[in-house]
Amino acid sequence: MRIDIITVLPQLLESPFQHSILKRAIDKGIVEVNLINLRDYSTHKQKSVDDYAFGGGAGMVMGIEPIANCINALKAERRYDQVIYTSPDGELLNQKMSNQLSILKNIIILCGHYKGVDQRVRDHFITKEISIGDYVLSGGELAAAVISDSIIRLIPGAMSDETSALTDSFQDNLLAPPVYTRPADFNGMKVPEILLSGHTANIDHWRHEQSIQRTKERRPDLLK
Ligand code: ADE
Repeated sequence: MRIDIITVLPQLLESPFQHSILKRAIDKGIVEVNLINLRDYSTHKQKSVDDYAFGGGAGMVMGIEPIANCINALKAERRYDQVIYTSPDGELLNQKMSNQLSILKNIIILCGHYKGVDQRVRDHFITKEISIGDYVLSGGELAAAVISDSIIRLIPGAMSDETSALTDSFQDNLLAPPVYTRPADFNGMKVPEILLSGHTANIDHWRHEQSIQRTKERRPDLLK
């Protein structure tokens, strides 16, 4: 898979891809992540990519010109399955969406900034708008990192079997069960006996019951 992230702050996005599962997936060639500086596509002397909003009002708007130049240059090289825009008014990211995105070949993520992007970009270049939650970030970079992380870890080979995504929370609309490790008794705080029993079927059953219980308590909306 190839993820091209268009941003005015490429440095902000370097670190998330330099560690752990994402780094390993990139090193293994399972995914290629390119950070593209939008300013490289600006024709202004100052390399600016934003301007005042027509009609007035506070805040700058990301202009269509550099974005169109950038996306068209990328599209001249390959076909993209989705051109994503990060925005608090986009569709809320969830596991199902990440699963769907993880099987695509090439995607672009355009990181929003300032007051947003000229609506013509959204109308003519963007195929999917994603929000990572009902709160406003200073820019779309962290959202792009969250979206990329949730996608990349699902690509076969990105994770070892023991960290398999199949047992993640949300994968079957249930939250994950509680987990424990050694010591089995810490100052009288004991690990549930069943987990020490070695009886796989009983343990699986217990974990499933715990998942349902946890989901009922914390996220009953998922069970509907
Ligand atoms: N940009 C600013 N806030 C955002 C959010 N909640 N999700 C995605 N992009 C954003």
